[in-house]
Amino acid sequence: MTEDPQRDPQRDPQRDAQALLDEALIRRVVDGFYARVRQDALLGPVFRGAIPDARWPHHLATIADFWSGILLRSGRYNGRPLPKHLALGAIGDAHFARWLALFRVTVDEVCPPDLAALFMDRAGRIADSFRLGLRIHRGEAPAPLPPLPPG
Ligand code: HEM
Repeated sequence: MTEDPQRDPQRDPQRDAQALLDEALIRRVVDGFYARVRQDALLGPVFRGAIPDARWPHHLATIADFWSGILLRSGRYNGRPLPKHLALGAIGDAHFARWLALFRVTVDEVCPPDLAALFMDRAGRIADSFRLGLRIHRGEAPAPLPPLPPG
């Protein structure tokens, strides 16, 4: 009789989730996310203004490479995303909050919970670094760091 894999003491849910992470899953996240983005009242116009219809396949491939580089360390992306976001003009915290909200809906739909959390952790950190870069670029004060824990 075969053992119930759920009862296998060697089973590591984190590792099981990581095993599901591959280029095909990344592509499902990317396609699902940008389908939402393009229909969104706040983000849709920003993306439509920057990316003509004919360039969307290229954009989606670039973003899939970006996530593959981050999560699978494939080295498939070697661009510099911050300058592209600086060039977009009037994007601010409301845009980032909406971007992250749509990304969360997408990864929760497409990924098991551990992988969804991994995507969200990386997306949140990168969004913070872009927000900081935008503020510095605009000569605004960086948002203050939270206080250090008592030492
Ligand atoms: C306010 C939220 C955001 C908006 C409105 C936005 C918008 C855009 C647009 C319009 C482009 C295409 C630029 C072009 O090709 O000229 C782009 C590219 C890109 N975005 Fe964002 N973005 C946002 C947040 C993020 C975040 C949080 C990430 C990463 C987690 C990200 C990663 C990228 C990457 C990797 C590219 C491709 C850059 C390249 O062509 O090498 N973006 N973004």
